[in-house]
Amino acid sequence: MTCSPESCCDFAGSYDLSKLPEIKRLEQLALGCDYGGTSWTTREQVDEIVESLQLGSGSQLLDIGAGAGWPGLLLGKLSNCNVTLLDIPLNALSQAAERALSDGMQARVSIVSGSGTAIPFGDRSFDRITHSDVLCCLPEKLEMLKESRRVARNSARMHFSVILPAQGLSAEQQQKVFETGPPFIGLDGNYSVMLQDSGWKVFNCRDVTSEYRDSLQRLVDGTHEYEKELVELLGEEELLSKRAHREDQIQLIDSGCMRREAYVAIAN
Ligand SMILES: C[S@@+](CC[C@H](N)C(=O)[O-])C[C@H]1O[C@@H](n2cnc3c(N)ncnc32)[C@H](O)[C@@H]1O
Repeated sequence: MTCSPESCCDFAGSYDLSKLPEIKRLEQLALGCDYGGTSWTTREQVDEIVESLQLGSGSQLLDIGAGAGWPGLLLGKLSNCNVTLLDIPLNALSQAAERALSDGMQARVSIVSGSGTAIPFGDRSFDRITHSDVLCCLPEKLEMLKESRRVARNSARMHFSVILPAQGLSAEQQQKVFETGPPFIGLDGNYSVMLQDSGWKVFNCRDVTSEYRDSLQRLVDGTHEYEKELVELLGEEELLSKRAHREDQIQLIDSGCMRREAYVAIAN
């Protein structure tokens, strides 16, 4: 969230930064949490995920692209479900392991390195799946949705958020969205059709663009409030470049070019 993985796809580098106290303070301001999150899922949205997934103590939840454990670990803590965190960067997963330990959740948490496009679990292993802004960070969107369906039991529920370009953009607007948004924000077609094509039925789709915009604004405001210490940490040039990047994203939202959506889908 705070360290622009979008611009370079360097997720491992972004997790090295996101664990630092100065960056966690920004995360707290922007999202209301301190897990080292890199998506735009807020603390309030986690309550909505618990409800929409109907999570409970018997649920087997898979968080794909789980990073440092956000939001999977909090979902597990709030609902007492069993949680499997799947992602690729080992530094993120080891932060997640430390957090699971310090929250006393190690008995209910499994942490696995692997790709959401080749999930290292057998068919029908999970009854709940979540992913936060992951589909806009990888090109193989349909493959990941198909893989998530393969490991989902019939009638399993999946919640995910995704950042996407608005419909009907000019070539120039599209170019700006591709340059400024998450690394693989572009898609052929739309997510509702991809869900259908991968064996999921859309239960609900909510526009969460305004919450995303508010988080970005709180983040930008935080970079002003804590400018001195952030300059010490990152250097002035880097801080200004990161802030400008977030301001560009706010502009794209305000001009109606970029959106964030939250889906709930049920396995057919
Ligand atoms: C925007 S971050 C979200 C991370 C975390 N869920 C959070 O909310 O902080 C997207 C995550 O997707 C992961 N990712 C990208 N490609 C992936 C793939 N093929 N399989 C699994 N995870 C992937 C990245 O490593 C990154 O941690």
